[in-house]
Amino acid sequence: STIYAITPTHTRPEQKADLTRLSYALRFVRNFHWILIEDSEEKTELVMKFLSKSHLNYTHLSIPTPEEYKMKSRDPNWLKPRGVLQRNLGLNWIRQNLKPDEHRGVVYFMDDDNTYDIEIFEEMRNTKKVSVWPVALVGDLRYESPVVVRGKVNGWFTFWKPERPFAMDMAGFAVNLDVIFSNPDAWFSLQVQRGYQESSILTSLGVKMQDLEPKAQNCTKILVWHTRTEKTKLKNEELMRRSYGRGSNLNMEI
Ligand code: UGA
Ligand code: MN
Repeated sequence: STIYAITPTHTRPEQKADLTRLSYALRFVRNFHWILIEDSEEKTELVMKFLSKSHLNYTHLSIPTPEEYKMKSRDPNWLKPRGVLQRNLGLNWIRQNLKPDEHRGVVYFMDDDNTYDIEIFEEMRNTKKVSVWPVALVGDLRYESPVVVRGKVNGWFTFWKPERPFAMDMAGFAVNLDVIFSNPDAWFSLQVQRGYQESSILTSLGVKMQDLEPKAQNCTKILVWHTRTEKTKLKNEELMRRSYGRGSNLNMEI
């Protein structure tokens, strides 16, 4: 079966570095289709060129987050949901372009800045309904994880709101394509309260706790890290202009 990874991405100085690092991991994954959706009005030149030399199977889409939902650079990162409309466009592409009887596969929602051990893709490849596994460096813990008892998930090792129906990060689960097809009204939402994006989509996909299939040796191995790339200060850009009369060449793609 094929892994369909849905990744929202947005323009920022660190974008190409993050995408480059991620794409080098993805090159090792067979039967993989990357759906990369830009948070922008139009597909950018940068991402277009990046994908065309990536050696990956991909679909490139774009949709902007409406202004009132956009993160301001000074907002705390949990204030607004990220990647909502982009993931929905990815889901819509899957529902429009793949056929339940023709395509076998698994859908995985990847951030563009996380770190993935390529083993995780083989773990999720045989997902019947929904697979789950631990995620490191998240929730202000070393890791968060489903709690597994006698091979079944019965709760969450999570500090923050463990009462959530599915108290895990987006990087901690994957869903069989059939579940996506048989619940055509399941979408991400801009209205969901913070931290409930994962619970909301899994609930609307009709998933129950007893459906969850623990992977990564019964959730005892870390194969995914919720890394976040530090924002680079660019304060000397302006100073270069003012002090030396010339700034960096803006035609130089970084
Ligand atoms: C955490 C989770 O790992 C995300 O899967 C979840 O969407 C997010 O929280 C949330 O609560 O909305 P975090 O690392 O804090 O993610 O967020 P980012 O990595 O900054 O954003 C998640 C994805 O959305 C990234 O692929 C990013 O490129 C994209 N994004 C971010 C946009 O498309 N537009 C934006 O304005 C910001
Ligand atoms: Mn992230």
